[in-house]
Amino acid sequence: MEQIAETQEKLLARYETLEDKREILKAPELKELLSSIKDVAPEKRKEFGQAVNALSRELKEKVAAEADKAVELPPIDVTAPMDVNAEIPALLATENGSIHPLMQEIARLSDIFGRMGFAIEESREIDDQYHMFESLNFPKGHPARDDYDTFMTVEKDSGGDPFIAPAHTSTMQNRVLKKYHQNLENGEAIAAVVPDRVFRNEDLDARHEHTFYQVEGVYVAKGIHAGMLIATLQEFLQEYYGKKLDVRVNPFYFPFTEPSFEFALSCPFCEGKNPDCKVCSGEGWIELLGCGMIHPDVLKAADIDPNEYTGFAFGCGIDRLVMMKNGIEDVRHFESAKLDFLRQF
Ligand code: PHE
Repeated sequence: MEQIAETQEKLLARYETLEDKREILKAPELKELLSSIKDVAPEKRKEFGQAVNALSRELKEKVAAEADKAVELPPIDVTAPMDVNAEIPALLATENGSIHPLMQEIARLSDIFGRMGFAIEESREIDDQYHMFESLNFPKGHPARDDYDTFMTVEKDSGGDPFIAPAHTSTMQNRVLKKYHQNLENGEAIAAVVPDRVFRNEDLDARHEHTFYQVEGVYVAKGIHAGMLIATLQEFLQEYYGKKLDVRVNPFYFPFTEPSFEFALSCPFCEGKNPDCKVCSGEGWIELLGCGMIHPDVLKAADIDPNEYTGFAFGCGIDRLVMMKNGIEDVRHFESAKLDFLRQF
């Protein structure tokens, strides 16, 4: 028993000097005492064992108490590392930022169409086959579907078809016709434009981008005819370029318009007078957009009676308009995020 008291004293003294307090539990003296219990005479063994275990427990408790202390983390200084009463730094100079040229022009053309009585709608960045094709009179397997180099998702819709990143803003025609259907009952026209992004899996070059912008136009009322389509586009383009322009239509094919046209305007830069004009290549005409009278099936898909109402639609590339206006030679600049390009606007 004396031996235990001695060891206890020794170990408690050593404990104080240890850096890692857990070391004390490995002390050889303690091990020795523990293993000697079995050799003590049976009548003294119980008392001896209890004393040794008490010492062992005492040491364990001290070590545990120390471990608890260690988790007390130092307080964090939450005072602000700066003078909160100091003046706020000056804002970045406005010349460090600018509105993207496409966004500037979308704002301008939306303003013009707005003043011509068109509502402005947004498209979307993912759509289904019904809106992209079926509602536009491209049945499944229609060869004209292949004209649109569409990006499709791996994920399928409930009908088992992949979703599509819209390859034209016409994907919104059915929705626009349905949304403004009530206008017709009120004796007003459906008149909306949709300027937004479209995506095609193109081989990229100076004239082709995978991501570009179109503005779709939809107009439906009683007695609408192709002359009104041409006049509307001519009026818009004259306002946009700020001058009188000649326009020209050639027959074309789209499944969702009948008749369909390819629409050209007289070159707003050389007016057909410069054989070296970079914009029209000296042709005097610029093929700008696709348009036509909305196909009866497209009206029917939106619950509009084609015997009562007719309408026109057009889809115009915005990038091209902006490139021509600013003499931009390569469409890829728009999505490049290059500051030396963007800072010019
Ligand atoms: N969506 C057609 C295209 O991208 C353009 C178009 C729009 C044609 C509306 C007719 C009517 O090629």
